[in-house]
Amino acid sequence: MQAGEPTAWFETLYAGGRRGEINMPWDRAQPLPLLRDWLQAQGPGAERAAIVVGCGLGVDAQFVAAQGFRTTAFDISDTAIRTAQERYPDSPVDYRTADMLHLPPEWQQAFDLVVEIINIQALPVSLRDQAIAAVANLVTAGGTLLAIENMRQDRDPLPNRPPWPFSRDEIESFANHGLHPISIERPEDTARPPRWRAEFTRPIS
Ligand SMILES: C[S@@+](CC[C@H](N)C(=O)[O-])C[C@H]1O[C@@H](n2cnc3c(N)ncnc32)[C@H](O)[C@@H]1O
Repeated sequence: MQAGEPTAWFETLYAGGRRGEINMPWDRAQPLPLLRDWLQAQGPGAERAAIVVGCGLGVDAQFVAAQGFRTTAFDISDTAIRTAQERYPDSPVDYRTADMLHLPPEWQQAFDLVVEIINIQALPVSLRDQAIAAVANLVTAGGTLLAIENMRQDRDPLPNRPPWPFSRDEIESFANHGLHPISIERPEDTARPPRWRAEFTRPIS
């Protein structure tokens, strides 16, 4: 990562993948099992509005849409968004290039389901609170945030390069922005390294 460019390196990576110089970053053929299992247990989306943060190449967004959510998905990398659109030409997902740190005002508290998977942990820790606040602020009253991040013990030092895993206090801190925690779990079986799967809701006032 270059100094002063906390997010530009993602586009560089995806562009390198596009040119065939490296494997496409974060390329998965299947939705993340921690998302898939949780979402299938929720029942159908019934045309409610969902947004997938840092959607990369789109596989999770496609899955969310297939569960019946009216789905928006965004990434800071233009190349990632273009590649997702090309991979899924008939997709109902509204793919957008956007920066989670500067989101369109019309997205504020506009989504019944917000999905955040291992994006904030890839940003410098100095931006973590701002990113957590921005993602939490997407959730509408009565809506749900699902956040999945790598986990660290409080005593573990932060690595000197990304990803920077979340402590328990950090994963709980989505609740500092008008959300209430529903569950904060560390599912045993799938993710290596271990990951938090945390669910929050914005209470209806
Ligand atoms: C570690 S990858 C994870 C991708 C995907 N969520 C997954 O689970 O495979 C982080 C993603 O976040 C995107 N990203 C980084 N900074 C961002 C920002 N400020 N706003 C939106 N997306 C961002 C990157 O381009 C990249 O696609």
